Amino acid sequence: MANQEDVFKKLVSHCKEYGFVFPSSEIYDGLGAVYDYGQNGVELKNNIKRYWWEAMTKLHENIVGIDAAIFMHPTVWKASGHVDAFNDPLIDNRDSKKRYRADVLIEEQLAKIEDKINKEIEKARKRFGEAFDEAQFRATNGRVLEHQAKWDALHQRYSDAMNKMDLEELKQIILDEEIVCPISGTRNWTDVRQFNLMFSTEMGSTADGAMKIYLRPETAQGIFVNYLNVQKSGRMKLPFGIAQIGKAFRNEIVARQFIFRMREFEQMEMQFFIKPGTELDWFAKWKKTRLAWHKALGFGDAMYRYHDHEKLAHYANAATDIEFNMPFGFKEVEGIHSRTNFDLSQHAKYSGKKIEYFDPETRESYVPYVIETSIGVDRMFLSIMAGAFKEEEVNGERRVVLALPPALAPVKVAILPLVNKDGLPEKAEEILRELRYDYTCQIEVKDSIGKRYRRQDAIGTPYCVTVDGQTLEDNTVTLRFRDTMEQERVAIADLHKIIGDSVNISSLLRKIEND
Ligand code: GAP
Repeated sequence: MANQEDVFKKLVSHCKEYGFVFPSSEIYDGLGAVYDYGQNGVELKNNIKRYWWEAMTKLHENIVGIDAAIFMHPTVWKASGHVDAFNDPLIDNRDSKKRYRADVLIEEQLAKIEDKINKEIEKARKRFGEAFDEAQFRATNGRVLEHQAKWDALHQRYSDAMNKMDLEELKQIILDEEIVCPISGTRNWTDVRQFNLMFSTEMGSTADGAMKIYLRPETAQGIFVNYLNVQKSGRMKLPFGIAQIGKAFRNEIVARQFIFRMREFEQMEMQFFIKPGTELDWFAKWKKTRLAWHKALGFGDAMYRYHDHEKLAHYANAATDIEFNMPFGFKEVEGIHSRTNFDLSQHAKYSGKKIEYFDPETRESYVPYVIETSIGVDRMFLSIMAGAFKEEEVNGERRVVLALPPALAPVKVAILPLVNKDGLPEKAEEILRELRYDYTCQIEVKDSIGKRYRRQDAIGTPYCVTVDGQTLEDNTVTLRFRDTMEQERVAIADLHKIIGDSVNISSLLRKIEND
């Protein structure tokens, strides 16, 4: 694990050093869990969004997009349940004055017990070698059984408390387990309280007339309240989907792990409206479709897994997460939820408007059911950076390379004049003018060619084009491939043909379809 933590630290500093992600307002020491994307980060992020958007709207003729406002009528959040129930249980340590999520403290305690079990298993695996039978060891080893019994009891108590949102019991568990604050080391805890995660502000100029409004904690509600507008204006027939990309805000109590959990982040959500009764089939279909989208990036199938939810929100009848193997373990990147007709019915109730679909085939009206796919852009960004980040030894030197899918890379082609004189920069400019309508290109003139290759590797540029004296004579260049580091002499006129479609989003879209 120490090694993985190390990798994660390196990844975070790589993001900063190469212009991908910076802490927000860094010259003022930053702002907790808020980040800015730099010159390379914004390109990668835009490419991720384009990949998602085009996969939704180009590959499905029954999915259209919208862009709803962040501010919404406050009743939206009453209807959606966020005002009353979008809470986390928080607890403060009186000595360190630090605030924690009570559920996270207990989950960390559970993880510690699991660690103890895993250590016993690893020790035994080393001792017994090939002959080791993990299942048998788990079932018979005294120490493992003891830890497992402790884990089961704690897990049961914790689940019961969370299901009932019994705040006193959550505190009692923290006390009984002798959980200490990692900063002060003490057990001087306050009571557990509910903490609503929505940010609020006021709209209107006078104090009397000001209305409390919220910064949306999810983009989905902007889709639900526009269901009728889109269905009617687009003459949409069920099943159809509405896709949206936009900012969301949550006042997370525990915001850690870089851009994994942020207070301002971006979501890509799609609500797929369907006939009641067909939801489990559509749920299964979207699970598959979304996993295929992830896998087309080429990081390897073993990097992904589903996590089906056993405990469902009261309005959902199926839910799963797509998890990615991050440097800190498998973590949720996307959620796929069968939300029944909960949201549309709630908005109908609170707005007093009829929100239904008239089915021309059966000639009946009903409130559509919804399958939602919801993915965080920033989490997706992190998973891609983690999957792509590689350290290699090349001729005794360290090479850091971002093996990004070429279609997502911030720069597709770097054009590098061997020296910054003798007409080579001008020739590089000429090549740039030739390529820039199709590919994001960059000219780099400073430093040795080796250093420039390393810098391009570090930002994931799939192709480097080196311009030298011979180029002026015969219009050929050296084309270097990022992953293999192989170099080929090619004609400038052939660059288009060689690079072709490989760096375009369409190549990824084709992969999803063909896999
Ligand atoms: N409309 C459903 C919804 O918002 P969610 O599971 O709360 O569901 C969906 O969020 C996705 O949004 C998550 O899978 C994650 O990728 C992203 N997300 C949620 N909270 C986040 C946060 N604080 N920071 C970054 N991404 C977040």
